Amino acid sequence: MSNVFLIGLMGVGKSTIGAELARVLGVNFLDTDQTIEDVSGRTISELFEHFGETDFRAREKALIEHFKDKNSIISTGGGLPCHDGLVEKMKEKGRVVYLKLDPENLAKRLWVKRRNRPLISTCQTMEELQRKLSNLLTQRERFYLQADFVLEVKDKASCEIVDELVELLK
Ligand code: S3P
Repeated sequence: MSNVFLIGLMGVGKSTIGAELARVLGVNFLDTDQTIEDVSGRTISELFEHFGETDFRAREKALIEHFKDKNSIISTGGGLPCHDGLVEKMKEKGRVVYLKLDPENLAKRLWVKRRNRPLISTCQTMEELQRKLSNLLTQRERFYLQADFVLEVKDKASCEIVDELVELLK
């Protein structure tokens, strides 16, 4: 196997699915947001608040550029593939899978969890959240679609998605 990078919008389940996939395959798992939090000793919200988004994106870039593992599952932050040519960098270091879900379903999943996600934390209504996610998807999908595989996750349980990924990556 080579590295597998999971990409896609917030709320699609990259971290949950990535951890489960790594467990099933018996390989290392890394979550880029978690790693950035561990290394900096601050939450993503604190990093955005104190140093701004540009600094956060530089941390994402450094993490991918210095990534040396050969056989890991990596869940990435939703914006990571969309700057500094990072989707190409990930493709050089492994295979990239876009987990795809529509903004309406993403909004439902994220509504109660939006507070610690700086780009959506101020959304006041479900409609506003959905609009924000739609706009992000419009800006980002051209990057996401550079993935080696696209996997639609709508109406699938995470164990089903993991099974499909195991097949896909064989
Ligand atoms: C972001 C997504 C978040 C996190 C940060 C910015 C984005 O990760 O990296 O809040 O730009 O979409 P998740 O996709 O894991 O929520």
